[in-house]
Amino acid sequence: MSDTDNSRRIFLALAAAAPAALALSGTASAQTSAANPGTVPGAGRAALVTGSSRGIGAATARLLAHVGYAVTVNYLTNRGLADQVVADIKAAGGRAMARQADVADPAAVKALFDAHDEAYGGVDVVVNNAGIMNVGPFAQMTDDAFNRMIATNMTGSFNVLREAARRTRDGGRIVSLSSSIILQKPAYTGAYAATKAAQEIYSSVLAKELAGRNISVNAVSPGAVDTQLLRQHGEEALRGIPEATPLQRLGQPQDIANVIALLCSHDGAWINGQNIFANGGLG
Ligand SMILES: NC(=O)c1ccc[n+]([C@@H]2O[C@H](COP(=O)([O-])OP(=O)(O)OC[C@H]3O[C@@H](n4cnc5c(N)ncnc54)[C@H](OP(=O)(O)O)[C@@H]3O)[C@@H](O)[C@H]2O)c1
Repeated sequence: MSDTDNSRRIFLALAAAAPAALALSGTASAQTSAANPGTVPGAGRAALVTGSSRGIGAATARLLAHVGYAVTVNYLTNRGLADQVVADIKAAGGRAMARQADVADPAAVKALFDAHDEAYGGVDVVVNNAGIMNVGPFAQMTDDAFNRMIATNMTGSFNVLREAARRTRDGGRIVSLSSSIILQKPAYTGAYAATKAAQEIYSSVLAKELAGRNISVNAVSPGAVDTQLLRQHGEEALRGIPEATPLQRLGQPQDIANVIALLCSHDGAWINGQNIFANGGLG
């Protein structure tokens, strides 16, 4: 059984095991699920995942599609990878489409949400995942490396969250990717860590602004996860991490997708305005 199959099995078992709690929560979607405990959590709903051509975003798009969401797979340049994620989702019986958009461009983000809404009739889950990591000592960080990271991680996240605030349907979920690096604060990561700390602030403030609409807004803070974001910095970036981690391995994209999916599930409904650290204990 694949990781995704396994996650779906756990997800459905949790949903089916908690009908009484769901009925007490009083929301229309929760009541529907309580009446039909076998209902797939994302059935009839749609999710938009930025930066989902690879890494954590791709694992999240696949998992949300697997539990029933129609998914928009956003990418910046890697159209082939995004198309592959969509093809895999469709081959497994899900619904998905790929859309290019640079999150740093507000007009492109608006067009991305427009395309999603046109295809699926609205958005229930927004995963604000697209991000880049440029590292180096303060003394040597170039303007270009700094400004590109601010444009993608800070401005880009703001652009995505602004559209999410305007468009997410009542009962929806918004999740942003922060990082456990904001706890560890290692040398050479100052600018990157600052952009990731912003995700925690964005999320807790937006959670308050959306009060009364039954929309949860959270951040997830992975530790080191085995993706291109880290591997682009060479094996050095990964050295010693499994040994230093209490769970004794490197994080995988599926580990983080599972946490995001939990926040999007009925079981995650009471978690709001939080930053969930998912790092195998390497805090
Ligand atoms: N990996 C880790 O250890 C780790 C730890 C903590 C937090 N995070 C956070 O988790 C998120 C995902 O990281 P990852 O490791 O999965 O990264 P990744 O493998 O490098 O993937 C990054 C994704 O973001 C997309 N992207 C980059 N710039 C974009 C832009 N301007 N507009 C739209 N899409 C853009 C890329 O699209 P293309 O493929 O088209 O370039 C790709 O789909 C990031 O926010 C990162 O900061 C990662």
